[in-house]
Amino acid sequence: MFIKIPSKPSHYLAPMLAFAAAVLLLSRFLEFPTPSSPFPTPSPNPNPNFPFIDLIAAYKSWDAEIGCPRFRDKYKNWTANSSAVQDFDGGGECDGIGTRHVSVLVKGWTWIPDNLDNLYSCRCGLSCLWTKSRALADRPDALLFENVMPPSTRRKGDPLRVYMDLEASRKPSGFEDIFIGYHAKDDVQSTYAGSLFHNSRNYNISPEKRNDTLVYWSSSRCLPERNRLAKSFLSLIPHHSFGKCLNNVGGLDMALAFYPECANRKSDIHWWDHLHCAMSHYKFVLAIENTATESYVTEKLYYALDSGSVPIYFGAPNVWDFVPPNSIIDGSKFSSIEELSSYVKSVANDPVAYAEFHAWRRCGVMGNYGKARAASLDTLPCRLCEFVSRKGGRNWRTL
Ligand SMILES: *[C@@H]1O[C@H](CO)[C@@H](O)[C@H](O)[C@H]1NC(C)=O
Ligand SMILES: *[C@@H]1O[C@H](CO)[C@@H](O)[C@H](O)[C@H]1NC(C)=O
Ligand SMILES: *[C@@H]1O[C@H](CO)[C@@H](O)[C@H](O)[C@H]1NC(C)=O
Repeated sequence: MFIKIPSKPSHYLAPMLAFAAAVLLLSRFLEFPTPSSPFPTPSPNPNPNFPFIDLIAAYKSWDAEIGCPRFRDKYKNWTANSSAVQDFDGGGECDGIGTRHVSVLVKGWTWIPDNLDNLYSCRCGLSCLWTKSRALADRPDALLFENVMPPSTRRKGDPLRVYMDLEASRKPSGFEDIFIGYHAKDDVQSTYAGSLFHNSRNYNISPEKRNDTLVYWSSSRCLPERNRLAKSFLSLIPHHSFGKCLNNVGGLDMALAFYPECANRKSDIHWWDHLHCAMSHYKFVLAIENTATESYVTEKLYYALDSGSVPIYFGAPNVWDFVPPNSIIDGSKFSSIEELSSYVKSVANDPVAYAEFHAWRRCGVMGNYGKARAASLDTLPCRLCEFVSRKGGRNWRTL
């Protein structure tokens, strides 16, 4: 999460890197090294002093050389662990739906975005009122607590107590009837693969990538392990670091000075308003989670995907259960930081290799990502309301 301050610093990155050292480089180069391979090994850039900037032209070269049919074929056997993301679809199963209308009152101070407030028409004829206002939901079926503990008791007929913790260290309060976390094993899962984290955002996405600076990074919580990892990588590659950690652009909030077209309006004050737009100018975005925790894949990665950049990712070991095939560079799969940086540089100089990291979006190859998006914060209201309805609403057992 980007707003809350989790209590525990990370101690996971160092062991993770050591583990990574044991694992071999996974790339198009090594995956298909033989001449019989369906994919050409990338030719050295014919003019390495003029790295490409035109993304659309790169797509066209990829279409001519490889194209969607071969890409789809290459990934048709691709499997992710489908249990890592909850099924919401339920096979269209509507049996067991109880009350047809559920209201959820979001309690107390919380980062849950205001624009989630809505009256939703959900599947199975269920309507779902989700609001922060007691004036709209004076007799809610459920109360949602996020930064504060739910009441320790609940009588039958009282609203259900829902507790949400999306941090890596997620922990039920012990007083909830329903627990929401990022993991598939929680009562209701909420992945970070949603679009509603921010109330506003500039949607300008650059069709041109910088040729002088390859990597975007921005972090303002300078955890020692993350900083060490970022420093060792970024020292090997031309980059811009916009946050407080390892800042090299002459101060904070420089993104709008670099990219004035990213401003939403004159009074633009939040860094997240222009984050995607700024990222979109770079071929790569470095994304390092606070901890390497199973299934904990956060907006750090999804911002980069949403902005049309390619994440260089360090984090959840099962990240592939949450992203499309060939959409990210999994840093932990390289035997050294040097190897990673030379791989990134060679992809940056090869329009076809680079375009292949965008092929999933252009060809509709989603892997488990479609599921991860369907189980995100965006759809949480309907999914929670359905859960409440299936439990019988306020009449559900008391603990
Ligand atoms: C980078 O791109 C600019 C145009 O955006 C061009 O003028 C410049 O020559 C390019 N530099 C390199 C090294 O390719
Ligand atoms: C996919 O699996 C099928 C059946 O197991 C196999 O015949 C085929 O070669 C595989 N395709 C690829 C691209 O790996
Ligand atoms: C699949 O994901 C579930 C939920 O995270 C996990 O419990 C299980 O161990 C995973 N299975 C494999 C084969 O990784």
